[in-house]
Amino acid sequence: MPRTARDVVFVDGVRTPFGKSGKGLYAQTRADDMVVRVIRELLRRNPGLPPERVDEVAIAATTQIGDQGLTIGRSAAILAGLPQSVPGYAVDRMCAGALTAVTTSGAGISFGAYDVVIAGGVEHMGRHPMGEGVDPNPRFLSEKLVDPSALVMGNTAENLHDRYPTITKERADAYAVRSQEKVAKAYADGKIQQDLVEMVVRSLEKGWGLATEDEPPRPGTTMESLAGLKTPFRAHGNVTPGNAAGLNDGATGALLAAEDVAAELGLDARMRLVDFSFAGVDPAVMGVGPVPATEKLFARQGISIDDIGIIEINEAFAVQVLAFLEHFGLSDDDARVNPWGGAIAVGHPLASSGVRLMMQLARQFAERPDVRYGLTTMCVGLGMGGTILWENTNYEGGK
Ligand SMILES: CC(C)(COP(=O)(O)OP(=O)(O)OC[C@H]1O[C@@H](n2cnc3c(N)ncnc32)[C@H](O)[C@@H]1OP(=O)(O)O)[C@@H](O)C(=O)NCCC(=O)NCCS
Repeated sequence: MPRTARDVVFVDGVRTPFGKSGKGLYAQTRADDMVVRVIRELLRRNPGLPPERVDEVAIAATTQIGDQGLTIGRSAAILAGLPQSVPGYAVDRMCAGALTAVTTSGAGISFGAYDVVIAGGVEHMGRHPMGEGVDPNPRFLSEKLVDPSALVMGNTAENLHDRYPTITKERADAYAVRSQEKVAKAYADGKIQQDLVEMVVRSLEKGWGLATEDEPPRPGTTMESLAGLKTPFRAHGNVTPGNAAGLNDGATGALLAAEDVAAELGLDARMRLVDFSFAGVDPAVMGVGPVPATEKLFARQGISIDDIGIIEINEAFAVQVLAFLEHFGLSDDDARVNPWGGAIAVGHPLASSGVRLMMQLARQFAERPDVRYGLTTMCVGLGMGGTILWENTNYEGGK
């Protein structure tokens, strides 16, 4: 039975505002309710899509217990009011969970098994602190399969500073300041708000409220304000709360469709999924993962960094972005990279972040018909990287 690969398009993406874990916006909010909010908003924003045409709901979470357990893709689909006929599943590739939900379900569209999918992720790091319930096999350490530092992400970032001695704390801090500035500007220009869905929240002290904006950004961050921050992962180290992403809560979701089905239903086709690649690296320097993942993809496509007009890279740590930039010969402030800032400012609720990169890339593509290709890329715990190559459907010539 012959099959033809179908083109897959990113139709739309939305997310809750991101919150600070602990006593932040979502202290009294369930993770699954955040996913429900995102799914319902995707349906509301795309009235041409009959809910029964959704063929799959793939939702990622790193900690899949409690309100992030119970096969979150399926449970959130039911809670969101999708017809019972719509199935769902859960995905885990730690920080690249939502990115993997998109590649896996998107590949299913290309294969012809689905027409339309919802793919996203959630992480409530307040309700589920990193590492909750994990039980690493003792062989990891007894057989020296991984360095002990590999299990704490901040330690891997310090290791990366060791591996790239040219990436100093000053460079990392300068990168972080720029990320904060870019997010502040994107907010002032109304860019980020376009894809936020407000969420009713409850606080034991303040009562009911509405989350409308990201909570983590710290506009006004300067080199001076970062200089004295503690280095919690190593005495006299380089990684601080200022040049790392924080501990955050949030959910994201994207609507993907076969390009012909999007046309049939009158849905937007904002960008085309061209290819994707994952790669493994030494878990002790997991932050370098986007480098081989991107190189692998470039080799398969016969393209180079010069063909890429916009790069949305997740900022788990400044050092990890700088290692990517250094590898590809890009300057620390290359205008193609995270034009609206990144996770250092806006937050990084682990498994949700991949789709945030995509929704920002899609919006930037719409403003940049001169750009043909863009990347979304991120590093992943236990030593991995994942990269997706996207084509701008608004492309009108140029790069
Ligand atoms: C780095 C980390 C340990 C900091 O946690 P924390 O101490 O709870 O962070 P806080 O937000 O309370 O910040 C700590 C201090 O730095 C200050 N700070 C943070 N960012 C700042 C900024 N941009 N400008 C000025 N001060 C800042 C805070 O005000 C706070 O000061 P205080 O101690 O006087 O109150 C935590 O964010 C972390 O683990 N990040 C990495 C997450 C991770 O690994 N993700 C996965 C990636 S693969």
